[in-house]
Amino acid sequence: MIGVAGLGYWGPNLARNFDDLGVLCALCEVDADLRERYTPRYPNARMYAGFDDLLADDAVRGVVIATPVPTHYDLARRALSAGKHVLVEKPPAMRAGEIDELVALAADRDLVLMPGHLLLYHPGVRKLKQLIDVGELGEVLCVYGNRQNLGIVRTNENALWSLGVHDLSVILYLLDEEPELCVAHGRDFLTEGVEDVVFCYLRFPSGKIAHMHLSWLDPHKMRRLTVVGREKMVVFDDMELERKVTVYEKAPWKRTDTYGEWQTRSGDIFVPKIPTDEPLKLECQEFLRLVAGEGDRRKVAEDGARVVRALERLTDSLRG
Ligand SMILES: NC(=O)c1ccc[n+]([C@@H]2O[C@H](COP(=O)([O-])OP(=O)(O)OC[C@H]3O[C@@H](n4cnc5c(N)ncnc54)[C@H](O)[C@@H]3O)[C@@H](O)[C@H]2O)c1
Repeated sequence: MIGVAGLGYWGPNLARNFDDLGVLCALCEVDADLRERYTPRYPNARMYAGFDDLLADDAVRGVVIATPVPTHYDLARRALSAGKHVLVEKPPAMRAGEIDELVALAADRDLVLMPGHLLLYHPGVRKLKQLIDVGELGEVLCVYGNRQNLGIVRTNENALWSLGVHDLSVILYLLDEEPELCVAHGRDFLTEGVEDVVFCYLRFPSGKIAHMHLSWLDPHKMRRLTVVGREKMVVFDDMELERKVTVYEKAPWKRTDTYGEWQTRSGDIFVPKIPTDEPLKLECQEFLRLVAGEGDRRKVAEDGARVVRALERLTDSLRG
């Protein structure tokens, strides 16, 4: 059974999904008004004001942490120490040292430590991964993400931490490599110390490269990821309703009769059907699967740590 901590903006979505899945047994929120609001909505869930009271509930096997980012490491550490499986919202920690400690604690106790990287459960992103893994695109050369919009202007989290964590989790998932170089440039135009425009460059040991443009100062609303392979190229566009994924049969090639000069080939454009399942529901189901002993819980935790390590290196580069 599952307990959800934090009922601000995002936590209620997690509570709803676990309730729909029939496993929500407890809620925890420090704000009295929010406790009052959600108590009648979930009559079968015990409501706690203190996180320790949630941890003391023996019926709770898995704890879902949807509290502000700076609290994630401490709450996840306490939950794992209490023997609970943990699903912690993104990013699961703010420093590499913290996430490494959480991963070790989870491994030591054979518990699930799953970061809430929602996009990894998006059927469109799963399709990208499948296209890459079966070799449909040929050798992957580069990946780049665009996550831009005019607003919401955040003052407590920069564009890298607020927007970049999504694309970074997807890029590392798709390429399944630890970057050897992480470089970020950006500026804090609106709020001092909070970068609203950030450009990131990643290079991987295989030679692949990736880029992310993250900004809430932009005329375009973009939620797009492009993967360039030697044989085909593919675009995942989360702003599209029906064309979430588009595969382009476009590639460079060498004709033998032109003395090895590069030509380009433009073939069909293909739009695979992408299921419309709610990614958050799939994420919650994956957590339950891991808690039940299915899947590779160690890899899920390690993958989460890889994202935090890259975020830390990009942050150091941005400030350096
Ligand atoms: N995956 C996504 O797409 C997505 C979207 C939005 C937010 N998030 C993540 O969800 C998390 C929460 O974000 P939010 O926007 O809901 O924040 P929020 O500030 O609206 O809500 C956080 C809630 O946690 C409560 N809280 C704080 N400390 C607590 C504690 N010790 N025990 C119990 N409750 C506590 C606060 O009172 C607040 O109600 C963040 O990590 C954020 O990155 C993820």
